[in-house]
Amino acid sequence: MTVRDPIRAEMLRFRPNAIAEVSRLGLGDPGIIPLWFGETDLVTPAFIRDAAKQALDEGYTFYTSAGGHPRLRAALQDWTERWYGVRPELERVWVPGAAMLCVLTALQTCVRTGDEVIVLGPMWPNISQAIEAAGGTPRYVRLDHDGAKGAWSLDLNKIEAAIGPQTKALFIGTPGNPTGWVISDAEIAALLEIARRRGVAIIADEVYSVLFYEAKRAPSFFDHADPDDNVFVVNSFSKSWAMTGWRIGWLIAPRRLAPAMAQLSVSNNTGVTVFAQFGAVAALEKGDQFIAEMVERCRTGRRLLGEFIASQNRLSWVEPRGAFYGYIHVDGLTDSIGFAKNLLATTKVGVAPGAAFACGDDRDESYLRLCFAQDPARLATALERMGAALRD
Ligand SMILES: Cc1ncc(COP(=O)(O)O)c(C=O)c1O
Repeated sequence: MTVRDPIRAEMLRFRPNAIAEVSRLGLGDPGIIPLWFGETDLVTPAFIRDAAKQALDEGYTFYTSAGGHPRLRAALQDWTERWYGVRPELERVWVPGAAMLCVLTALQTCVRTGDEVIVLGPMWPNISQAIEAAGGTPRYVRLDHDGAKGAWSLDLNKIEAAIGPQTKALFIGTPGNPTGWVISDAEIAALLEIARRRGVAIIADEVYSVLFYEAKRAPSFFDHADPDDNVFVVNSFSKSWAMTGWRIGWLIAPRRLAPAMAQLSVSNNTGVTVFAQFGAVAALEKGDQFIAEMVERCRTGRRLLGEFIASQNRLSWVEPRGAFYGYIHVDGLTDSIGFAKNLLATTKVGVAPGAAFACGDDRDESYLRLCFAQDPARLATALERMGAALRD
């Protein structure tokens, strides 16, 4: 008699993603300049740390409201109104955990085993892994790369064609990781029309929304969706306020899902670390100046990287319009993981291999991703070392 395996098959298939495969070779080595993860080298600003410390000292060590402390949810309403011009109703604003848990929560509401989620790629690998963890299958639509125009672009027909009977959601990251592509208002409106007509949800990952180089913030699905549309807008404290280790993000969810959001917040985590939530309140209330400084620091990093790419005959890119990554094409490169491992060993510069973002497409083997939200002097050192390695 064969014994049934109670473990889901996809749980036995998980492997470390390609970023982890490279980075684990160097983690903990202080000599490495790490450009492989999506984070700045800045410590969270003192006014945010102090607010969390104060909450801790005031005794905020107990269970809290699972869907987010009321102070934080109200502060999120205020911040959204200030940045987006419209105040979301309280029953749409949730703090189930970091953006990663917001993504998983959104997936839990619509994906059953065997369902498909369309992912607009190239895409950060953790998203596909989350879809698989939720029992779904990612199906990829790739942004077009128009070398002549120097832009990534979205072909709406490809999205429409990829929607099948099992498709439950479209996952869109804008500004995108790794490309820095940013959706337009017209494209948001068109996608909403497709989603309504074809009966699919939209999960809009907007964690880089305010790290945008052309205006105060990027176009958002929040600008266009009705409160009862099946649209989830994910955001995070991680990137804009240098809080990656705090693990807090938020979700603006369809109004009719308020009871589900409350329940999933209980089931998944029963609340985010409460004193950390007071740090998040301070970020929202006093952090606009920090965001402005962060954008300027990233703009400097983007310029340094752009100058470096222009000086190298094997490198090219589409200058990112948002987020803080360079997705760099390396002429003649066919093994991005091997290249990244070798670069680490010979120069102590850590980059993410394009293979990680591939979305079933081997073109990404000729790409590397670098996070340029770094101290300019250290970034310059890293680029100098990379230049030498590319010449060898
Ligand atoms: C597109 C995207 N979504 C979500 C996240 C995760 O954010 P958080 O740290 O809040 O989980 C990242 C982090 O790199 C990201 O790039």
